Amino acid sequence: MSGTNTQTKQTEGAEATVPQSIVVEPVRGGNGLKGVMRVPGDKSISHRAIILGSVAAGETVVHGLLEGEDVLRTVAAFRAMGVEITISEKGIYSIHGVGLDGLSEPDHVLDMGNSGTGMRLLTGLLASQSFFSVVTGDDSLRTRPMGRVIQPLTRMGAVILGRDGGRLAPLAIRGRELLPLEHQTGVASAQVKSAILLAGLNTAGVTQVTEPALSRDHTERMLTGFGAVIQRDGLTVTLEGWPDLKGQTIRVPGDISSAAFFLVAGLLCPGSDLLIEGVGINPTRTGLLDLLAEMGAGLTLSNERLEGGEPVADIGVGFAELKGITVPPEVIPRAIDEFPIFFVAAALAQGQTVLAGAGELRHKESDRIRAMALGLNQLGARVEEHGDGVIIQGRPEGLEGGVTVDSLTDHRVAMSLAVAGLRCKNPVTILRTANIATSFPNFVQQLNNIGGMIATS
Ligand code: S3P
Repeated sequence: MSGTNTQTKQTEGAEATVPQSIVVEPVRGGNGLKGVMRVPGDKSISHRAIILGSVAAGETVVHGLLEGEDVLRTVAAFRAMGVEITISEKGIYSIHGVGLDGLSEPDHVLDMGNSGTGMRLLTGLLASQSFFSVVTGDDSLRTRPMGRVIQPLTRMGAVILGRDGGRLAPLAIRGRELLPLEHQTGVASAQVKSAILLAGLNTAGVTQVTEPALSRDHTERMLTGFGAVIQRDGLTVTLEGWPDLKGQTIRVPGDISSAAFFLVAGLLCPGSDLLIEGVGINPTRTGLLDLLAEMGAGLTLSNERLEGGEPVADIGVGFAELKGITVPPEVIPRAIDEFPIFFVAAALAQGQTVLAGAGELRHKESDRIRAMALGLNQLGARVEEHGDGVIIQGRPEGLEGGVTVDSLTDHRVAMSLAVAGLRCKNPVTILRTANIATSFPNFVQQLNNIGGMIATS
């Protein structure tokens, strides 16, 4: 179904199709979405595998790395700091770790593209290196708040300069020896927590981070696997500096944040029967599964296992008549990346859905409250935007569509609106979709493989 103008971006080890815009046809009748599938590797875990593999001693071998643009930026950054990263024919990445003090000064700016995780985690790591570096990103990333990592790192003694009084990238980092810190974060943010922990790796003494609610804990789990002394006590994590990190073999599970689009698509399209194999179900990431269950979804988890310290399962989904809910505030950090697609489920559910206390959504790749309210309302949904949330009156009969909407360059907004398009009466065009390649390069192909009809241009 691809149009003629589809751009193909060739990156080493990955060929990603990058549609500038997409046209979604409704799934008609009871045809549904059917098949057995896998989604690409977890983005959060992939970044961390490259980072920790680079500063460990010896070789780290990564199976199933997400070859999306965000992670490939992190790969490029470590290569620019002298780390040899090779890719076998089977897409297996080998990282020849240089140890905590083995990175070398990059001779150019490190461009993290669209990736908040890449920029924030690297800023933490680089703050305690013995060299100068500059990190930057695309138009979206250069508007996202960096003060939340700069402020605690500065308390450790870091020297980081940025635009807007040190709140916005590009960031210039004069790496130096730091002091350990006991820090209480203002938001439940794995990026802030991880930036501090990564700074603490190369810092003598004990670094401690306490969060208001538990954010994703992949950094802690992976550090344990690499041999660090790291402990959790409730919402507090404690790390001893200068650990002996040893290269590991890492199997990256499928990204639940990518599986989320297919789970909701399966629930919304009558006649669907999907099985998504090998999805990471770390409890700090499964908030969407809880929300969907409360809405009436009958998701099945099978073949549950532990792979490299991370829980994994196959998830089955079929059509369900969903009903609106009030989102319990404690679920928000565990579902933070899934609210765009959750809004789609709510827009097509019976009754009212209420979300409050989710102001963090305004600081993602786009203002996701604004972007989704705009896009869904243009499709015919009833979404009322509030300061830190939304109220949605569902339309289980389906949306109108027949219009052109804008993803505002946000990958998750683009994919969520595409799923909404499956349940519109008329085709929907979505503009500025190229950033789908940051997290899910083959999204369109995979949706078409299971019965979607999406054309790209
Ligand atoms: C991520 C943490 C989350 C999430 C992002 C990935 C990570 O951001 O939204 O997509 O890998 O640590 P915050 O830490 O800002 O909540």
